[in-house]
Amino acid sequence: MAAMPALVTPPLALYIHFPWCVRKCPYCDFNSYTLQGELPREAYLARLERDLAAQAGAVRGREIVSVFLGGGTPSLFPPAAIDRLLAAARAHLVFDPDAEVTLEANPGTIERGRFAEYRAAGVTRVSLGAQTFDAATLAVLGRIHSPEETRRAAEELHAAGLANFNLDLMYALPGQDPAGALRDVAEALALAPAHLSHYQLTLEPGTVFAARPPPLPDEDAAAAMLGACAARLEAAGFGQYEVSAWARPGAQCRHNLNYWTFGDYLGAGAGAHGKLTQATAIVRTTHLREPRRYLAAQAPESRPVPESERAFEFMLNALRLTAGFEARLFTERTGLAWESIRAPLAAAEARGLLVGTPSGCRPSSLGLQFLNDLLLEFLPEMPEKSYVSALSTPTRSGGAGHAAGRYSQALNGSSKNERITRETG
Ligand SMILES: C[S@@+](CC[C@H](N)C(=O)[O-])C[C@H]1O[C@@H](n2cnc3c(N)ncnc32)[C@H](O)[C@@H]1O
Ligand code: SF4
Repeated sequence: MAAMPALVTPPLALYIHFPWCVRKCPYCDFNSYTLQGELPREAYLARLERDLAAQAGAVRGREIVSVFLGGGTPSLFPPAAIDRLLAAARAHLVFDPDAEVTLEANPGTIERGRFAEYRAAGVTRVSLGAQTFDAATLAVLGRIHSPEETRRAAEELHAAGLANFNLDLMYALPGQDPAGALRDVAEALALAPAHLSHYQLTLEPGTVFAARPPPLPDEDAAAAMLGACAARLEAAGFGQYEVSAWARPGAQCRHNLNYWTFGDYLGAGAGAHGKLTQATAIVRTTHLREPRRYLAAQAPESRPVPESERAFEFMLNALRLTAGFEARLFTERTGLAWESIRAPLAAAEARGLLVGTPSGCRPSSLGLQFLNDLLLEFLPEMPEKSYVSALSTPTRSGGAGHAAGRYSQALNGSSKNERITRETG
C-alpha cells in the first residue's frame, strides 16, 4: 500500500469570540445573547486570558498570522479592554509582526474617537455590520442603528487611518426589490470600504424570523439582485474571491482566506472553535457556547477529524473560493493523495459544477451558485454520528469554522449566496 502523504503544518490564526449584543437580531443564529445588566467585562477578559495561556502550549514555535475579534458584538468592549486582551495574546503567543487584526463592530456601539483608540490597541482592520441603508428595513431587522450611524462610523474609520474596513450587507431583505438591493451596494461603495461581504438573508432555525417569517423576495428576485449587485461591484473595482466576499485588489481578508484554505486556528471565548494540524492528525477544539458555562469551564473539548472526513472538510472551505485551489494544497492540508478524490472530482466536473485547472480545480460559476450540490459529491459515505445529527439539524454554529455546524450550513437548502459562519468580512 502506498504511504500516506505527510500533513504539512499550515499558517495559524486566532479567533476570539465575544458573545453579547445590545439586542439580539431576529434573523441571527450566531452564538450571541442580548446583554442583560452589566457586561461581565473583567470576568470575561480574565477568562479569555486563561484560555489563551492554556492553549499556548499546543502551538509553541508557531506564529499567529491573523486575529479575528468576532461576535456577538466585540465593540461592546472598550478600546482599553481590547488593548489588554491583545497584550495578553502577545504575551502567550508569538505574533507575525505584520499580523492582520480584525475587530467586528456594530455601528450602534461606536462612540466618537473610538476607532482611533482601537487602532492604537493593535486593531488593523474593522468589519462593520451595515446590513442595509434603508431605515425602515433596518427597523424590521431589529438593528440598533440608523443608516446615518453607519455612515458616521465609516467616516470615523477613514479618519482613524483604518481605511482597510469591511461592510457587511445583506440582500433579499423583507420587502426589498432589485433596485433596493442595488441602492444598498451603491450606498456602501460611497463609503469607500476596502472589502464588502454580501449575504443573502437566510431564515435560520431557532430564530424569530424562522418562527414568524417576514415577506421575503422569491428566489428569482434574489438571483436578479445578486446579478445586478455583482455587476455594480465589479464596475467599482471589487473582485469576488469567495461566495459572499468582494475586495479591492490586495484587500482580501487574510484571516478568512486562512479558513478557506484549510489553515489552522486557535479558538478562544464562548462557543469558539479551533483547528490544529499535528504530525499525523487534525484536531478540532470546541468551547462551551453559553457564556456563563464558558466562564466556569476549563479546557475546550477536542476531537480528531476522522481521515474519512478530511476531504469533505477541506472542500467545505476551499470550494468557496472563486479561484479554487491547487492539488498540492489539498494533499498538504489533508494528508490525502489527490488520487483519493478522483471519482468525486470527475463526477462534479461531469455535472458542470467544477472546472479542472492546470494544477488543481475551481468551482464553475454554476458550482458557486449551487455550492451545496457540489459539496455533496465529497460527503463521506459514513459520516461520524455527530455529523449525521448536524446534517439533520440545520442549525449553524457561531464561532470559527466548526465543521459540524458548517456541514448543515453548507448543505442546507440551495441558497445561492449563503453567508459562512463567523468567517465574515
Ligand atoms: C456577527 S454578525 C456582524 C457583526 C455585528 N454583530 C453586527 O451585526 O453588526 C455577522 C454578519 O452575518 C450576517 N448575518 C447574520 N445573520 C444572517 C442571516 N440569517 N442571513 C444572512 N446573513 C446573516 C450579517 O451581515 C452580520 O453582519
Ligand atoms: S447580527 Fe450581529 S448584532 Fe445582531 S444579534 Fe447577530 S451578532 Fe448580534
